[in-house]
Amino acid sequence: MSLFLLLLLLSLLPISLSQPKGTLIDCGATLKSQIDGREWLPDSGFLSGGGTPKNLTIPVLFPILSTVRSFPNHPGRKYCYTVKVYRSAKYMVRTTYFYGGINGRASPPVFDQIVDGTFWSVVNTTEDYANGMSSYYEGVFLAQGKTMSVCIGANTYTDSDPFISALEFVILHDSLYNSTDFKSNGLRLIARHSFGYNGPIIRYPDDQFDRFWEPFGDANRNDSSNANASVSGLWNLPPSKVFETELTTNRFQKIELKWPPWPVQDANYYIALYFADSRERGFNIIINDVPYYKDLNVTEAGLVVYATEWPLGGTTNITLTPSSGSALGPSINAGEAFQVLTLGGRTLTRDVIALERYSWTGITCSGVRVVSLNLTSMGISGSLSPSIANMTALSNIWLGHNSLSGPIPDLSSLKMLETLHLEDNHFTGDIPSSLGNIGSLRELFLQNNNLTGQVPNSLTGKSGLNLRISPGNSFSAPPPS
Ligand SMILES: *[C@@H]1O[C@H](CO)[C@@H](O)[C@H](O)[C@H]1NC(C)=O
Ligand SMILES: *[C@@H]1O[C@H](CO)[C@@H](O)[C@H](O)[C@H]1NC(C)=O
Ligand SMILES: *[C@@H]1O[C@H](CO)[C@@H](O)[C@H](O)[C@H]1NC(C)=O
Ligand SMILES: *[C@@H]1O[C@H](CO)[C@@H](O)[C@H](O)[C@H]1NC(C)=O
Ligand SMILES: *[C@@H]1O[C@H](CO)[C@@H](O)[C@H](O)[C@H]1NC(C)=O
Ligand SMILES: *[C@@H]1O[C@H](CO)[C@@H](O)[C@H](O)[C@H]1NC(C)=O
Ligand SMILES: *[C@@H]1O[C@H](CO)[C@@H](O)[C@H](O)[C@H]1NC(C)=O
Ligand SMILES: *[C@@H]1O[C@H](CO)[C@@H](O)[C@H](O)[C@H]1NC(C)=O
Ligand SMILES: *[C@@H]1O[C@H](CO)[C@@H](O)[C@H](O)[C@H]1NC(C)=O
Ligand SMILES: *[C@@H]1O[C@H](CO)[C@@H](O)[C@H](O)[C@H]1NC(C)=O
Repeated sequence: MSLFLLLLLLSLLPISLSQPKGTLIDCGATLKSQIDGREWLPDSGFLSGGGTPKNLTIPVLFPILSTVRSFPNHPGRKYCYTVKVYRSAKYMVRTTYFYGGINGRASPPVFDQIVDGTFWSVVNTTEDYANGMSSYYEGVFLAQGKTMSVCIGANTYTDSDPFISALEFVILHDSLYNSTDFKSNGLRLIARHSFGYNGPIIRYPDDQFDRFWEPFGDANRNDSSNANASVSGLWNLPPSKVFETELTTNRFQKIELKWPPWPVQDANYYIALYFADSRERGFNIIINDVPYYKDLNVTEAGLVVYATEWPLGGTTNITLTPSSGSALGPSINAGEAFQVLTLGGRTLTRDVIALERYSWTGITCSGVRVVSLNLTSMGISGSLSPSIANMTALSNIWLGHNSLSGPIPDLSSLKMLETLHLEDNHFTGDIPSSLGNIGSLRELFLQNNNLTGQVPNSLTGKSGLNLRISPGNSFSAPPPS
């Protein structure tokens, strides 16, 4: 029996391992669907802040494009999807947009997208849409809490309603792009190409994480005779299919590429260039006149040359020049370029400051005073700023199920406070006994943190208070009385 089970597991394992893992969301859909054996979920369970599901009336090539969720264009508002993730796992996050005329205009709206509180990019699908194509945006981000959020930020670039077609979260292997410090940076995809290749986008099942490798050919230099290259062990795990083709030249000629193929903004970029060839080739790599790698000797086993933070701006020229002793000209198989984003706006203070730009759907205002702060399960990390004590009109603070850390500040100036929910975070230190001085406080939820010390008598003895402090903290026993 156990042998049988073991065999069964072994035979199932390769299949389940090869499937990208994560969450696929078909925005605006009402039902689950299976596409290429992968499950897409309707978006209603992930959404905070509403929006309207809409069906496109024109035929589309991919089923997930046939529905969208559309949001009212209130500039400054953001509409968020919150997805359960594995804390500390690295995710490829991809958003897909295909307008399909849903709001009755010829051209699509332009708006912002925000990941875990960090500005990710402007979404402008105008040109793709004019060419009858959908647009996608991809990034690599670390799950710092139990949830991650992707928000659509409405603004004044255009006056029609923002929308989204699909949202994907795929777990990446630990070794991918691991020279980047994902605790403070994210990667925003600029270009990912298979060189000398002329076919449809290379993706799952060729790429085990369903990354998209677009064709980048050249009328004179495509070479598809590399089909025998067997590359393995590169940390970024590029699909072997990208090594079957390459751009190449004759002896003594150089290759000049305008790649990434579009101008980029002034910033630092993660660049990885991939090479594999059974023929001996040696060359130098120069990016915009700056030497990037000298005397590279390509091998059959494959190699990648990467830069973690390489400054670029405007157009980029990559030049491969044969080294003096090389019998053959240079070659290149694939490349990836990401803009390095600095994570920011993740702490609560910053989010409150960010109100000026994007109001959280979780904040209820009465006049100009904020009376309720409800950021439950918003993927917020950082510490709780003591300046929250200055928002004296607050009667409800709900910050449960986030990744907030550090001490609980003195909130005794919040005389109107009725409910305080800080459960399921990483708060440390003592419970401030001054909380017991807030007369109106009737709910205090602190379970599942890392709190220590003694539970203040001012709280345990407070009548009418619903106090939850366990499980998940390690308080010391009260002194014997
Ligand atoms: C979209 O189409 C689906 C399936 O045909 C249907 O169930 C749903 O009600 C439609 N939604 C809207 C907003 O028309
Ligand atoms: C969106 O892209 C189109 C085409 O590239 C451009 O003409 C337009 O100015 C862009 N809109 C905004 C608001 O950036
Ligand atoms: C990246 O992953 C590889 C393969 O697992 C490992 O050998 C290497 O030490 C990692 N590098 C960093 C900076 O973590
Ligand atoms: C090489 O690829 C480009 C674009 O992908 C294509 O236009 C061209 O015809 C190809 N050339 C050859 C010789 O296959
Ligand atoms: C690829 O491998 C096959 C079988 O091993 C061999 O016949 C063929 O010559 C090889 N092609 C190249 C370009 O090395
Ligand atoms: C790239 O090359 C083109 C011409 O080949 C040149 O006009 C341009 O200035 C170069 N760009 C950079 C950033 O070096
Ligand atoms: C590449 O090979 C040449 C000739 O064998 C050698 O001189 C050079 O040092 C090698 N380059 C590297 C980076 O190892
Ligand atoms: C806060 O938001 C959560 C989840 O959206 C909801 O269940 C809860 O009732 C809200 N609390 C208040 C005080 O509005
Ligand atoms: C509260 O606001 C006052 C006046 O703006 C400021 O001086 C003080 O530092 C603030 N307190 C906290 C804890 O931020
Ligand atoms: C609690 O603190 C301990 C020691 O500092 C740490 O190892 C642990 O990961 C923390 N737990 C949580 C849930 O933050």
